[in-house]
Amino acid sequence: MSHEQKAAAEPLHEVAMLAATEIYSPCRRDSVDFFSKILGMYIVREDANATYLRSYEDPFAYSLKITDGTQAGPGLQSFRAHSQAALERRAEVLEASGLGDGWKAGEFGHGKAYHFRTPDGHRMKLFFDVDYAVVAEKDRTTLRNRPSKRPAQGIPVRRLDHINLLCSNVTTNKNMMIDTLGFRLSEHIVMDDGNEIAAWTRVTNLVHDVAFMLDAAGEKGRLHHVAFWYGIPQHLMDVAELCVQEGIKVEAGPGKHGISQALFLYVIEPGGNRVELFGDAGYLIFDPTWKPVTWTQDEVQTGIMWVGADLPQDFFVYGTPILEAASAAEETRQSEPAEA
Ligand SMILES: [Fe+2]
Repeated sequence: MSHEQKAAAEPLHEVAMLAATEIYSPCRRDSVDFFSKILGMYIVREDANATYLRSYEDPFAYSLKITDGTQAGPGLQSFRAHSQAALERRAEVLEASGLGDGWKAGEFGHGKAYHFRTPDGHRMKLFFDVDYAVVAEKDRTTLRNRPSKRPAQGIPVRRLDHINLLCSNVTTNKNMMIDTLGFRLSEHIVMDDGNEIAAWTRVTNLVHDVAFMLDAAGEKGRLHHVAFWYGIPQHLMDVAELCVQEGIKVEAGPGKHGISQALFLYVIEPGGNRVELFGDAGYLIFDPTWKPVTWTQDEVQTGIMWVGADLPQDFFVYGTPILEAASAAEETRQSEPAEA
């Protein structure tokens, strides 16, 4: 039985959602300004080496952590389990898979968590106990089903949507998420030689919570993008205009993906990480026996870009850490005298 058949035959409901993402930035202040002033996210906590932010409809204490780093790149990706028992069951499976890093004490916003890695080394954790957003009196809203006011600055995103991870082998990394955590495959691209070059996986009704794409550079563990949701397509044009005005690079869009059908915009935040903004969520999946959609080599362009200009070549090769920056940092490190 294939991984997909196994997942479809006996769906697990143990991992509930992507709760938070972490990115590294070599210029944290500029990154925080982008996310708070242009994307309208609340700054909820500042530590010596990290800033925590949340969108106005994110339910928990934070959804984005920006940590000081010598270069851009992915940090820890945090998923919430459905229950404490589900967390403990998944931890056992992860431990047995050889990809576990063990239990670690709680940290800001999240209780005790089981840490693990993808086969490529992307760092992740699963937790259950969580702190909900603590909203200052001035930011509370009478709209009782919304945690906080819609900020009156920038074009505010509503919630964290998904992450897209570059990897050296899509199938290996995707199967790990299916086998250990109960993710399910929504769509993928399979080349004529059988090589799977991209896969969109989910634990929610969204088309994807985590996507994997082949890293053209052959590297392991890089980030393609983190994505936040608007739900309103016009906001993509509005935020694109703000980005141009403020000198933020707009890489592609607004446009419409074939895969996921979502309306998108890609920008590069000041730290160098790619950020996707979703004008809508595309379609949703409610069918318990959903058959994954396979796009062929001939259909790659259509799948990625249904409406809009072709994506720039950089879209397929750029990721973080940026390879040139990684090389430079490594050279600097090697040229530094060893510590006494
Ligand atoms: Fe995406």
